[in-house]
Amino acid sequence: MPPEDYGRQLEDVDNLLEELIDATMTKFLEQVKDGTWTSEGWSQTNTDYSLSKIAVNAFTEVMAKKLSEHPEGGKIYINSYYPSMVKTAMTGWAGQITPEEGADTAVWLSLLPDQAVNGKFFAERRDTFFKTVFSAGYAELV
Ligand SMILES: NC(=O)c1ccc[n+]([C@@H]2O[C@H](COP(=O)([O-])OP(=O)(O)OC[C@H]3O[C@@H](n4cnc5c(N)ncnc54)[C@H](OP(=O)(O)O)[C@@H]3O)[C@@H](O)[C@H]2O)c1
Repeated sequence: MPPEDYGRQLEDVDNLLEELIDATMTKFLEQVKDGTWTSEGWSQTNTDYSLSKIAVNAFTEVMAKKLSEHPEGGKIYINSYYPSMVKTAMTGWAGQITPEEGADTAVWLSLLPDQAVNGKFFAERRDTFFKTVFSAGYAELV
């Protein structure tokens, strides 16, 4: 199956299953291990990061559905977010904001009163679509 079909499947929120996310990631990892990922159609660069983020967001949506079906009082809400470019080891300390500032949206989400926000992706406290934030990486991917 070409990469764009995997991308489409992982965006198909209504039909998304944990097994599908696992199968997609396992397939990609196998192709990386045996060195065939580019001949299978994946981009040479950034695919690992982009695909990991697509998987995280797909998993957020699957878990959000599953956990919100818990009985009243036992519900768990799950969201994901983009912290902006943060000064950490990952960016070689070249980000624009501190880790504390990067944690702002996560803390804000965790402390929302009467948590009913679920299965969403945020950036700077705003509900957005992860493809908007990762558009460069995503374009590379598909
Ligand atoms: N920094 C940014 O600008 C930025 C932007 C967007 C998204 N993010 C995302 O935010 C997350 C954290 O990034 P960061 O910037 O804080 O990176 P970081 O400073 O490099 O920290 C990464 C953390 O992940 C841990 N880790 C790495 N591989 C692991 C593994 N296999 N099992 C368990 N723990 C593991 C590391 O543990 P050790 O210290 O023990 O190695 C470290 O604590 C990542 O998912 C990143 O993609 C970061």
